[in-house]
Amino acid sequence: MAAVLEKQKIEIKPTGAALGADIEGIDLARELSPKTVDAIKEAWADHLVLRFRGQKLDDDQLMRFSANFGELDWAPVIAASRVKIPGEDRYVESAEEGRRYISIISNIVENGKAIGALGAYESIWHTDMSYNPEPPCASALYALEVPPSGGDTGFSNMYVAYETLPGELRQQVEGRLCRHDSTYNSAGELRRGFNEVTDPRQAPGADHPIIRTHPVTGRKALFLGRRRNAYIQGFDLEDSERLLDALWAHATRPELTWYQQWRIGDLVLWDNRCVMHRRDEFDPNTRRLMHRSQIKGDRPY
Ligand code: SIN
Repeated sequence: MAAVLEKQKIEIKPTGAALGADIEGIDLARELSPKTVDAIKEAWADHLVLRFRGQKLDDDQLMRFSANFGELDWAPVIAASRVKIPGEDRYVESAEEGRRYISIISNIVENGKAIGALGAYESIWHTDMSYNPEPPCASALYALEVPPSGGDTGFSNMYVAYETLPGELRQQVEGRLCRHDSTYNSAGELRRGFNEVTDPRQAPGADHPIIRTHPVTGRKALFLGRRRNAYIQGFDLEDSERLLDALWAHATRPELTWYQQWRIGDLVLWDNRCVMHRRDEFDPNTRRLMHRSQIKGDRPY
């Protein structure tokens, strides 16, 4: 007989910053009732980034929780990866093998091999996989090991970035498409199978509207994706660079941001359609281990 799923009584505590809220009183290892999922979705639409502290999840539970927000997406092609095969107690080393729903973000090296991506480097501001025609709408990052200091993850509110965009800048970019480069990851590493790019106009990737509409909330957001090798279609390179520098300086101002200081058991869910993120570097002699899932998204419009 199907178990009756009770609505868990959740408490929503906004960070007080431009985005982010803690969701308390919930155990994500349990299957969530539709009412609980609806309450989380509402809080997510309001706060863009949700943090659930004190969780104890295996990868299958992380995938089950993530699937409440849509269809699970494959992990990105990364410089070094170890990926989970769903439903099996098995990981593969190659990003090419298997169905890849959990990616590992870590600086840990085992037997001379990195077990995950991004090392201990700074990861610069970006939106996950925005170089794809249909980038993932959401990402969830779950902390299994955290360093004593560093490795904080910052988030920036792209609704507010759009709403506070100076009028002249907004006019210049309204209706424009921008190329989102796929050659490098956010830690500056060349992705497997890609060659270096020197002219942004030649960069492989996807073109997306600089101002997009969120398909659920209907709100407009700035959608920049990644700075490296970006190019605004229809401008000469110099003007494109000038406009992009102005947009990026605006979109990453501290008043638009909130930083997550990780504790073991934190799960943070963010909305790639209206949020950018980055990560501070940390001491490579300490350990940081995160498991990440992501949800398929639509073509930005
Ligand atoms: C990322 O930049 O996607 C990684 C975030 C993190 O490791 O905190």
